[in-house]
Amino acid sequence: MLRRTVTCGEIRESHVGQTVRLNGWVNSYRDHGNLIFIDLRDRYGLTQLVFDKEDAVSAGATSGSAGDKHAHAGLMGAADKLRNEDVIAIEGKVRVRIGGENPKLPTGKVEVVVTNLEVLNKTANPPFLPDDNAALPNEELRLTHRYIDLRRPSAQKVLTTRHNLYKSTRAYFDQHGFTEVETPILYKSTPEGAREFIVPCRNVPGTFYALPQSPQLFKQILMVSGLDRYMQICRCFRDEDPRADRQPEFTQIDLEMSFVRREHIMEMMEGFVRRLWKDLANVDVPPIRVMGYREAMEDYGIDRPDTRYDLKIKDISEFAAKMDFKVFKDALEKGKDRPRFNSKRGVVKMIRVPGGAEKLTRKITDDYSNLVKPFGAGGVAVVKIVKGEDGSPKLDTGIAKFLEPLKAEFLTLSGGQIGDTILFVADAYAIATKAIGELRQKVARDMGLVPRPGAEGGPWNFLWVVDFPMFEKNKETGKWVAMHHPFTSPRDDQMQAFLNADVEDDDTIEAIVSAGYDIVLNGQEIAGGSVRIHDGAVQSKVFKLLGLTPESAKEKFSFLLEALSFGAPPHAGIAFGLDRLVMNFVGTDNIRDVIAFPKTQIGADLMTKAPSPVPDKNQAEVHIKSTWVPPEKK
Ligand code: AMO
Repeated sequence: MLRRTVTCGEIRESHVGQTVRLNGWVNSYRDHGNLIFIDLRDRYGLTQLVFDKEDAVSAGATSGSAGDKHAHAGLMGAADKLRNEDVIAIEGKVRVRIGGENPKLPTGKVEVVVTNLEVLNKTANPPFLPDDNAALPNEELRLTHRYIDLRRPSAQKVLTTRHNLYKSTRAYFDQHGFTEVETPILYKSTPEGAREFIVPCRNVPGTFYALPQSPQLFKQILMVSGLDRYMQICRCFRDEDPRADRQPEFTQIDLEMSFVRREHIMEMMEGFVRRLWKDLANVDVPPIRVMGYREAMEDYGIDRPDTRYDLKIKDISEFAAKMDFKVFKDALEKGKDRPRFNSKRGVVKMIRVPGGAEKLTRKITDDYSNLVKPFGAGGVAVVKIVKGEDGSPKLDTGIAKFLEPLKAEFLTLSGGQIGDTILFVADAYAIATKAIGELRQKVARDMGLVPRPGAEGGPWNFLWVVDFPMFEKNKETGKWVAMHHPFTSPRDDQMQAFLNADVEDDDTIEAIVSAGYDIVLNGQEIAGGSVRIHDGAVQSKVFKLLGLTPESAKEKFSFLLEALSFGAPPHAGIAFGLDRLVMNFVGTDNIRDVIAFPKTQIGADLMTKAPSPVPDKNQAEVHIKSTWVPPEKK
């Protein structure tokens, strides 16, 4: 094989006159009669090759003898047959481009006149070409032939970005004394939120491993083992339906530290964020703002606010109570006597949309009611502020007539200006908050306020969100669930209240604040963690609250409870969603773009055709039998 002496991204004017060898794929093929041009591609770039039908001499066949002419004809014959995606090796001489330079390519000033061609492998007719400049074929086709799709330069760039992210991560944490430890993939079933993937065990009939949703308990155990500072770039498995930023199999940068309080770990992780953004985007991240969960929910209706745009939510319940409008009155009636943050309190909330009167048409605002319905809200009330005949603000359309008697007060309270649309959602606190939080994001998109994903250097709006409630009620079961996970500690100042709390006392339990923290970037959760419980009694109380009997807690977590009793240091940790970080650095909102071999919406790998049926005998070997019957056999 003509082994390469340079790559396809490397040749410059300084190489002119040199004989070089290149290996790669035929990226494009142009036959200009006497000349054949080929762009040769490898992962480093493109180089223009020229096969010259007339001139065998210029590029090295110096004598022009009959033998040379024969060889040359052979070369041209072979070149004639080349097609896109054939794999070739060539030898040739570098010259300044005769047909003028291509300023778009780093190699655009030069070309290689081929003297020797070796076809390493002919391709079958490719289902599509790996061309970033053409419209991408549908994702199904790309994922089925991922090996072609990954040849696209932008896909190669994603893989190198990921690689650089691993490198910066390991460098930063190594510098700060963290040790990387691999934890098991065949693990035990634990309740951490999502559904698990289970793996039947051959040796112990009737038992199963579970794939880890995260190495949470192993990293805590490593703290008890005295490792002090742990890190791992690890794979996590959650049997959830994939979404734009969620995969059933994804990667975390997982961290844990001993002898730290919340502020220490936040400082260490903020340093990491700063290092990553410097290394990968050359951006200096300023100190990250810390926002309380309550503030996030009140102002943005979500625990991961996108602060790239304003559109803050305002609670106007007191004002709304004075209105003669049944929808608002009924909403406020719901749990009137409940404390301020209680999820059962009725509220009326609004968003002022500057410029909305023109942009948000009737059709758009009518659709907003459909948007909030899945969250349990009845609909969205609307009013526009337009210019009256005398030039002053006039309330128009929607619920204008109910606001009219209190117009002056309403305009002051809402800050409403001519040209605004104001949107209202009224319901029980939890429903109205979530619904208007979703509405806020949709309105931002409709108003064109959401920048494209941050590839072109931002904006990067980071936030720490802290002071989450420890527990929330599952709507379906009515049972408490841990908002982070069951190993999260109450905040220091809440510990006593938690230990004293009666498990039946909903209002007290609901008010307990955890020592958890998330990092949010442009409305996406990129990391989540907490200070952990290091006291067995506190851990047992959490299990009790979550409805685990002492027996089942012991069966599932005896190793943890035991470990906590043998000198567990105070410890805290966090995990970053690595795929989401890469999404931000390459500027995509599709997680599948940043994973070499991702899964589709139904969790399938289209290339390998996983998941796939397993013959009965293999099932029997691990003591299972599928109960699934294909519909046509029913
Ligand atoms: P958590 O469940 O919050 O915490 O996960 C941490 C981060 O992982 C990312 N992430 C995901 N990315 C892609 N696909 C998914 N299905 C997915 N699920 C989560 C998110 C998230 O912020 N053990 C704890 C961490 C800890 O407490 O230290 C944990 O797993 O970016």
